[in-house]
Amino acid sequence: MKTTTFPSATILVVDDNAGSAKTLRFVLSAEGYHADCVGSAAEALERARAAQYDVALIDINLRDGSGLDLLSDLKAQQADLIAIVVTGHASTENSIDAINRGASGYVQKPVEAQQLLSLLRSGLERKWLQEENARMVRRLRLVHSIGATATLGLDPEVTLQDTISLVTALLDFEAGAIWRGSGVGGELELMASVGLSPELDAHCRRHVSSVAKDIRADRSLRERPWFDVIEEVEEGAAARFLRLVPLRGQEGISGWMAVGGLDAQPSQTEEAEVLGAVAGQVGVAMENMMLYENLRVAHQRLQQAQAQLVQSEKLSALGGFISGIAHEINNPLMAIVGYSELLAQGDGGEDTPELADRIFRQAQRCARIVQSVSIFARAHRAGTAEVALNAILMAAAETAAHNRPPEAEIELRLSPDLKPVTGDPDAFRQAFVNIINNAYQSLDGQGTGKVTVATQAANRGVLVEVSDTGPGIPEHVLPKVFDPFFTTKGVGHAPGLGLSVAHGIVQAHGGHIQAGNRPEGGARITVFLPEAGTGPPADQPPELARAHRDPLLADLSVARLNG
Ligand SMILES: Nc1ncnc2c1ncn2[C@@H]1O[C@H](COP(=O)(O)OP(=O)(O)OP(=O)(O)O)[C@@H](O)[C@H]1O
Ligand SMILES: [Mg+2]
Repeated sequence: MKTTTFPSATILVVDDNAGSAKTLRFVLSAEGYHADCVGSAAEALERARAAQYDVALIDINLRDGSGLDLLSDLKAQQADLIAIVVTGHASTENSIDAINRGASGYVQKPVEAQQLLSLLRSGLERKWLQEENARMVRRLRLVHSIGATATLGLDPEVTLQDTISLVTALLDFEAGAIWRGSGVGGELELMASVGLSPELDAHCRRHVSSVAKDIRADRSLRERPWFDVIEEVEEGAAARFLRLVPLRGQEGISGWMAVGGLDAQPSQTEEAEVLGAVAGQVGVAMENMMLYENLRVAHQRLQQAQAQLVQSEKLSALGGFISGIAHEINNPLMAIVGYSELLAQGDGGEDTPELADRIFRQAQRCARIVQSVSIFARAHRAGTAEVALNAILMAAAETAAHNRPPEAEIELRLSPDLKPVTGDPDAFRQAFVNIINNAYQSLDGQGTGKVTVATQAANRGVLVEVSDTGPGIPEHVLPKVFDPFFTTKGVGHAPGLGLSVAHGIVQAHGGHIQAGNRPEGGARITVFLPEAGTGPPADQPPELARAHRDPLLADLSVARLNG
């Protein structure tokens, strides 16, 4: 820290006595100060307007007025001016007045050199400390705000624009810019700029690429935080100052920042250090930005691939569906063709009625398949009526009653507290008929058995569980039960559309369907349908198994359809 002399300080001596002005200048110059002398208040004001002085030495008695008034005027013009009042007539009032008007000191004529110089030193020291303090505060604010902008900004373009605006404004430059790219080979993408004309942009790019080349060639330049360029723009007058700052990330130079101005002086080393620190942060921000962009592109590609996959899965499902229909219809059709050929050739003999009956049954089989397929197609359309599910389940149980094995029973445990659901009542009935039929078929040949249909109010919806005491669904079959045309019941016996139709209906109404087994044995199909007026809930429905442990279910109305 400088504590003894401030040789660069400039001093304005205001004294109408040419002799004492000369003496003062002599004393000051001997110490290395630069001093200008004027003889009147008017001159002093004019000089101080034209050039900024650090110190004014003011004689209290001037020919055109009071030195104290001049002191006030000069302080009004430049608040940080150090003013020292010099007088031949010392008086307490004057000195108090001078201090009140902002003077830093007061010396008596004949001026004692040592006293004046020490007053000067302490005044300049105070000023220097204040300036240094202000600079530090400014630098800290700058680093903080740029750090916050560069690291917290979510939109990279806004981040870089904020950063360059702050750097340029706070370091008092006229123009600033940030480019992306190493600068080698000329590829630089302008990311943000302030006051940058196309000419200046081109000019900066030229310098950046030549500096980037130098850095490549000369290892010793790799750690240099910035590169200054000073060039004459007009002969003998304006000069352009450019500071080029490489933005270094972990992978090397990721971009460049430049600040500059006409006639601007290279900034203080400390400010340049700030610029270096800022460059580090922007370099990292720039790298993050590139990572983010790569990630975004990769994500976009993934989304496209996923969409294609979904599309091709849809197509393959459609292909499977169509070949399933073809296969299902082909078998009875082949039989019909064969039998009708026999009949047409008159080869039926006494089997003719039997052959005609076979043709009729195979044609019926075709009709059933076509009917299933058209139900399947309808299953994907949602209805809009308000539906009481308990009534639907009772109707479904009735429809399925003719498939109930003679020894089996059905129990309906229907909760009275259900809210209505929205949908197509016929479609819902069809879905539950299919599920109940499967349950009955699982009991076939088993003698006694039981199918239970239970309902329960659930979170913003209704849960229905259809369980049976049959053999259950084998683990390897479970993942396929909702596939169209999947059946374990043998070709020609069942098209394998029952559960896929139920699945389509439930999904079209915003619900879920699950197939599983009860711990104690037997299959369990769980259906959740959202309450009327609500969208489908975000969570999967809880297992209906809980319903059995729920005391509320003790109140369920129990109806039996076992007749
Ligand atoms: N309650 C159940 N118990 C055991 N297995 C079942 C049960 N429900 C369905 N499954 C299995 O799921 C398969 C598919 O059922 P789905 O209802 O879709 O077709 P299907 O009953 O075979 O034929 P369709 O219903 O078209 O006449 C059945 O073949 C059977 O293997
Ligand atoms: Mg079925």
